[in-house]
Amino acid sequence: MIHVLFVCLGNICRSPMAEAILRDLINKEGLSDHITVDSAGIGHWHVGASPHEGTRDILDQNRISYEGLAARQVDPSDWDRFDYIIAMDQKNMRDLQGIREKNGVVVKMFMDYVSTHDKKDVPDPYFTGNFDEVYELISQGCVGLLEEIKQNDRNKEELS
Ligand code: 4NP
Repeated sequence: MIHVLFVCLGNICRSPMAEAILRDLINKEGLSDHITVDSAGIGHWHVGASPHEGTRDILDQNRISYEGLAARQVDPSDWDRFDYIIAMDQKNMRDLQGIREKNGVVVKMFMDYVSTHDKKDVPDPYFTGNFDEVYELISQGCVGLLEEIKQNDRNKEELS
């Protein structure tokens, strides 16, 4: 099993959007017995909350389920439970580095998986209000991330 955790600041806009989109891709590819997805926030303000209305709207428009999603805060134990921890922006990455040393986990920036943009950060729609732009970036990045996970898995099988 491969376990993926997306991290943003509040866990109500970007990271739950990524969680829902990647889970949808995984389900469509029949990989749900192999890959799990979760999301968490650096901050604690929205713990227990559903995704932001803007995130819910854009997921509804694209018929992607966000059922059951509730915000939670990042916990140091996440480094023991996840194989990939993916930060939505550079501030999230710095905060993650301050919470725990990397150990064996792949800790990367989400925008590393979006080949068509030079931006380093997924813009925060909580402040910009632009959920469409974020949906496009996150959809693209989730495809790229899933490809990397599958490739890494194939390499591991070849080595074993
Ligand atoms: P997110 O957006 O990190 O994409 O979930 C935010 C949500 C809430 C806050 C900041 C960013 N906030 O300050 O409450």
